[in-house]
Amino acid sequence: MEGDMYLSDKRAKKVRQALDRFFAALNVLFPKDGYAPSQDQLLGMQNIWGANHYHRENDVVLRNAEGCWVWDMAGKRYLDMNATYSAIAHGHGNIELIGAMLKQAFRMTSAQNRFVNDMQPQLLAQITALTHQDGAILMNTGAEAFDTAVKGARQWAYQVKGVRSDRAAIISAQGNFHGRTLAAIAASATEKYRTDFGPFPPGFKKVPYADIEALKKTITPNTAAFIVEPIQGEGGIVVPPSGYLEAVRTLCTKKNVLLIFDEIQTGLGRTGKLFAGEWSGVHADGILLGKALGAYMPVSAFAARHDIVKCFTPGRHGSTFGGTALSCATALKSLELIVRDDLALVKNSANMGEYFLAELLKLRSPAIKDVRGKGLFVGMELDKNVATADQLFMKLKKHGLISGVAGNNTVRFTPPLVINKSEIDLAVQCIAKAAQEL
Ligand SMILES: Cc1ncc(COP(=O)(O)O)c(C=O)c1O
Repeated sequence: MEGDMYLSDKRAKKVRQALDRFFAALNVLFPKDGYAPSQDQLLGMQNIWGANHYHRENDVVLRNAEGCWVWDMAGKRYLDMNATYSAIAHGHGNIELIGAMLKQAFRMTSAQNRFVNDMQPQLLAQITALTHQDGAILMNTGAEAFDTAVKGARQWAYQVKGVRSDRAAIISAQGNFHGRTLAAIAASATEKYRTDFGPFPPGFKKVPYADIEALKKTITPNTAAFIVEPIQGEGGIVVPPSGYLEAVRTLCTKKNVLLIFDEIQTGLGRTGKLFAGEWSGVHADGILLGKALGAYMPVSAFAARHDIVKCFTPGRHGSTFGGTALSCATALKSLELIVRDDLALVKNSANMGEYFLAELLKLRSPAIKDVRGKGLFVGMELDKNVATADQLFMKLKKHGLISGVAGNNTVRFTPPLVINKSEIDLAVQCIAKAAQEL
């Protein structure tokens, strides 16, 4: 920390001493690298005190991670082809990212949002430059960014478009996933996300994905926005046919409806472009970011056109942790790493994704119905008469690969964007072996 422009010598000395104490404490806490409670005890504790809201693996506790790999408490190694649902773009344990977090944590983590911190303006500038939008609001989770977009679009409808009070409608696409808040599930058409959580806030309409005629019929003068994933993730890695998003853009412009892309999962290199919207050359009026934005910390954003952002006036929206110095410093470093060396990480996603998809397409198994995706956003749809996505997930886990499960009986592969060719080869071998066992 010598010469650090942000830390006085006295403070830097204190930080060094604190770090020494911290690492000494680690040695005491984790002698021979072992936790006191056993894996079975921890699983028992989780079952007793945790709510049962995830399909949890009941035989594994993960403890360490590095690059594209995670280790359980028994020392078994897994290739992480899920990367915390696409968040871990830079791989686990990226030293520069952790360094930026630590450095900021020692300087200042957060302060009252009434005051500008020295990190947030820099992050806002970077997000708006990368997304070609005019401004942004920072939140924490993806679902909150979605709620922010809904509020932003509704305000815009009343204050700019001239829709009468309480009549604004948001249109979303069936099969979408925008998160778990009430607004996000009100916009969802997937029953398992909705059952027993009603009543839902009104003002949400749904159309089939990639159906421009249905969108045309559903838009009315009260429509505020169409919010859509440029490639559906949770829905099963659904790539829309070419021309669809271009037609959506033309329609929304003609009808004065905001087009908002949810790029929480597809954004920041996941699909082999910085943003998935680039595949169709469509520029949206607003864009949602999350996951890889903060990577190791929940940081999300709604970036949008000037006339949408300016509708937010003091006291109308906010979040205690939205845009703290710590989250902004982390996200700034995350973005720096993503765009570094002429978007090397994004190019790796494009190249490795293309290679991975080509190798998966060579696999022959009666269970495999389809393989599709862009970049490192890949889905393998299974024939439900032969096997379920959960069955393949379990076989993959047994062979040391962590995947994801999405809609349409699809197993989803979204590894860290740093993955290399030999790791992809390992993954393909593992998938081939697991598919054979189905
Ligand atoms: C497209 C999309 N939007 C929103 C979300 C919700 O993000 P979060 O889980 O951070 O609330 C997700 C999460 O998977 C997502 O894939």
